[in-house]
Amino acid sequence: MCGVAGYVGPKKAGPILLNILKRLEYRGYDSAGVAVIDNGKIFAIKSKGTTADLEKKYLKRENFGGCIGIGHTRWATHGKPTIKNAHPHISGHIAVVHNGIVENYQTLKNKLIENGFKFKSDNDSEVLAHLINYYYNGDLADAVSSAIGRVVGSYALIALSVNAGMLVCATKDAPLVIGNGVDGNYVASDIYSIAQYTNKIMRMVDNTIAIIEDEKSTIIDPLGRPVILDYENVDLDLKDDGFFNYPHFMLKEIHEQPKSFQDTLSSVISTMEKDITLDIGLSETEIRSLESAYVVASGTSYHAGLMTRYLFPQTAGIMVNVETASEFRYIEPRPNSLFIAVTQSGETADVLASLKKARDLGLRTLAITNVKGSTVTELADKTIYTRCGPEFAVAATKTFTAQIAVLLILAIKLGLVNGVITSKDAKIMVSEAEQTPRYIQYLLEKEADIQKVAEQCAESECCFFIGREYLYPAAREGALKMEEIAYITSIGYPAGELKHGPLALVTDKSHVVALATYGRTIRSNIKEVQARGGDIIAFVSEGDTEVRQIATKVIEIPKTKPIISAVLCSVAVQLLAYYTAKEKGLQIDKPRNLAKSVTVK
Ligand code: G6P
Repeated sequence: MCGVAGYVGPKKAGPILLNILKRLEYRGYDSAGVAVIDNGKIFAIKSKGTTADLEKKYLKRENFGGCIGIGHTRWATHGKPTIKNAHPHISGHIAVVHNGIVENYQTLKNKLIENGFKFKSDNDSEVLAHLINYYYNGDLADAVSSAIGRVVGSYALIALSVNAGMLVCATKDAPLVIGNGVDGNYVASDIYSIAQYTNKIMRMVDNTIAIIEDEKSTIIDPLGRPVILDYENVDLDLKDDGFFNYPHFMLKEIHEQPKSFQDTLSSVISTMEKDITLDIGLSETEIRSLESAYVVASGTSYHAGLMTRYLFPQTAGIMVNVETASEFRYIEPRPNSLFIAVTQSGETADVLASLKKARDLGLRTLAITNVKGSTVTELADKTIYTRCGPEFAVAATKTFTAQIAVLLILAIKLGLVNGVITSKDAKIMVSEAEQTPRYIQYLLEKEADIQKVAEQCAESECCFFIGREYLYPAAREGALKMEEIAYITSIGYPAGELKHGPLALVTDKSHVVALATYGRTIRSNIKEVQARGGDIIAFVSEGDTEVRQIATKVIEIPKTKPIISAVLCSVAVQLLAYYTAKEKGLQIDKPRNLAKSVTVK
């Protein structure tokens, strides 16, 4: 799972590739590398870590030129994150970068070794370089075509040869886009990374090969027959990618939530009339005939999706199954259902595979994503955008709360059509949702209090986040955040379930974060923890007198409706995790072993 890039044109390829790779780092940052052809030779530079590390190395050796090159940023799957395993992989006059997995690499590797090829890495992608070299007979496109004919797995690959003034790309189950610019042609894993150079973009489709030259790009199928793909003009907002006054993107993005929630909400309601303008691409009759909904997502987006477990039956009048995308392949969905993919990036491989499955089974499909032009928008019948602007920190924050905003309005819309709620109810609910940005802002002003509590969490060996109903997904999200960036083993549990196992792990070195802003039942769960010596940090509603008496630390949250309370608690636990990681001196925006977007299954 990685990001790939290529350039051919009149300019020096190295700096262009580095700029593209910087925008692809969300796909992995275990290692990075570039290879360019200069004076009939391949020059390659690789480094462990991020593109910034690669850039430092590059600047020391900038004496090489070369107007054609490829680049890669890696998230390790096969082989450790070392320089040895970094791409580009080179085999004689051939260099290759690859995103995907070569599932039959061991068989191919054995055959290539028998044929005298020497392997330098433990990485599956290296077989591609040798295989293309093996088949090379003076025509790079032919060689790539023969090579992929032997590959089982997924690939977005870019190959270059010292003997050919072109890049040859191939794709299957991994995205690749070609950009046609005034100063050359570009190729990369996504539109966003090359939009800094051109807005004329062509998406490659599965099982095609692209020959990219200085002046033109030609698409063929594996038999060499031309394939017609059109360029589209994309218009992306690329302005917002600075830290401004924040030490980390994550903190900046946490603070952007009043605006991102508001912007998202305003895109699906009319603020004057409090009407819902959200279009899900289904007529009222089609909505009424839906049997159920499947909300499918991964990671943080899955936690946003979990909110529908409570929201949909109550408000939308529709049964819902919320599934993690990697498990959806084992589930047989009911036929007359609405499939809803929730994905910040729109590129998560498991989500895309689930959506394809749902589509193949004839389900209506809806995507909720933050990224314009992402793959999910191509696959779904209809897309709803969260309006957050780019999210750079690996740990998702503002997109999570914006996804909840969309799901809430979606539930109200379905509920209206299904006759579960009246239009008066709907207007009240919309007005309540509109108060959320103000409450988030108010909560953000308590940042210093949360920071103080985080100083204690930094000492923790284990954190338990507990909540009930809407606060349960928020608790899971808090635990995920704490694990992702503060590297503290954390569990997000339904409060009532703690006594069925996790309680055994509670010691005086653990912290229990209780999301207790509404409902009284959680009080007894907190007492169960207290009796076992655990330190209790409780987020309570303003004016609470009960939980306050038993918790070690209490932070007050504005008193609101349950789902909005869950949004506020989520913001609070984002801050808690952030300041815990900061207290521990961790890198925060790019946590170890993770990637912003997971593009392998
Ligand atoms: C990765 C990221 C998470 C994210 C998840 C799903 O694991 O590190 O922050 O929640 O992917 O990503 P998506 O783009 O589909 O929401």
